[in-house]
Amino acid sequence: MTEPTSSFAPLRNDTFLRACLGQPTDYTPVWLMRQAGRYLPEYRALRAQAGNFMALATNPALATEATLQPLERFALDAAILFSDILTVPDAMGLGLSFQQGEGPQFARPVRDEAGVAALAIPDMDKLRYVFDAVASIRRALAGRVPLIGFAGSPWTLACYMVEGAASKDYRTIKTLLYARPDLLHRILTINADSVAVYLNAQIDAGAQAVMVFDSWGGVLADGAFQTFSLAYTQRVLQQLKRHGADGKEVPRIVFTKGGGQWLRDMRALDCDVLGVDWTVNLATAREQLSGHDGQRPQSLQGNLDPITLFAPPATVDAEVQRTLAAFGAPEQNAAHSCQHIFNLGHGINQHTPPEHVAAMVEAVHRYSRR
Ligand code: CP3
Repeated sequence: MTEPTSSFAPLRNDTFLRACLGQPTDYTPVWLMRQAGRYLPEYRALRAQAGNFMALATNPALATEATLQPLERFALDAAILFSDILTVPDAMGLGLSFQQGEGPQFARPVRDEAGVAALAIPDMDKLRYVFDAVASIRRALAGRVPLIGFAGSPWTLACYMVEGAASKDYRTIKTLLYARPDLLHRILTINADSVAVYLNAQIDAGAQAVMVFDSWGGVLADGAFQTFSLAYTQRVLQQLKRHGADGKEVPRIVFTKGGGQWLRDMRALDCDVLGVDWTVNLATAREQLSGHDGQRPQSLQGNLDPITLFAPPATVDAEVQRTLAAFGAPEQNAAHSCQHIFNLGHGINQHTPPEHVAAMVEAVHRYSRR
């Protein structure tokens, strides 16, 4: 087979990608969910310049700048595309807007039979700005660190599409789940197939890893999680390309907030990394993922409580040490084993002091150096 040629610069720091694929590394790689965002004053300035969040996200040059901002401050081992999970339902025509301080809102939520019948996989041309941003970021990174593309899980997208906004109790979508599961299954099927096409286009544009954010999988009952979240995340994964435009393997990460009790179900997912929140014990999780059915064990991503970053740097330092110790010494000899990618257990809080993030990243590298 001939290697496809790539116009992108060679990767100089592959620590994150190696850990994703279960290969030994010189130190534990680290990045943060929502690392580009409101806790950075330079991000707030850039958003003001753009006018609002969507104006920033839909402008590839500005989205590139936002992606690179945290990398200028901290020695992070990966970059993540600056965008949002809700671009996909927006492209479906649901009318996304972000009210300052109130979070996302859809003008036309999907609530009834007619709304569900009208749903379809969106024209990817409407999301061209995302793929242009991926290519632009990849060029700007010039091989510094790998670029992660991402999408929401079918279930998490459905939460916003049906509720129309963030929700405290998920009453509308859970009522649909229990009263009209047929309608929810149709929404989830369309979401899964849309997300698969969307992630494949990000891979073609230059994404070197992809992540599925199942932020609200943890609100489901046991049984419902497997049927309405996990099965559709798997439907996405089954359709994804394994290799990028440069012929390199593109690892897949799945993060389910509140999913710790379902790791035994999640290890059947066709993915390379499972993200876990701070309620999970990393040693127990590692044990559950190691040596299963002869398949390559998944690696673990996480799981510092984001609120830890409000404590003084000395405490942050100690909590980093504790998290690394909880995972234990990574395997150095096996070609493939469960490796650790340091991250928060959920997105960084917008009020986080940036200097504490610096202390965190520095501590991960210092304490984990082999
Ligand atoms: O740095 C990065 O991680 C890349 C960018 C990114 C954003 N959103 C930018 C953003 C990523 C990966 C996301 C994912 C996302 N978006 C998720 C999954 C991750 C998670 O935290 O669970 C979810 C649930 C959303 C939906 C969403 N988008 C919400 C609820 C909000 C508003 C409140 C909030 O939590 O920030 C957004 C807006 C949004 N997306 C902002 C950013 C930087 C803030 C908007 C602003 O600048 O005013």
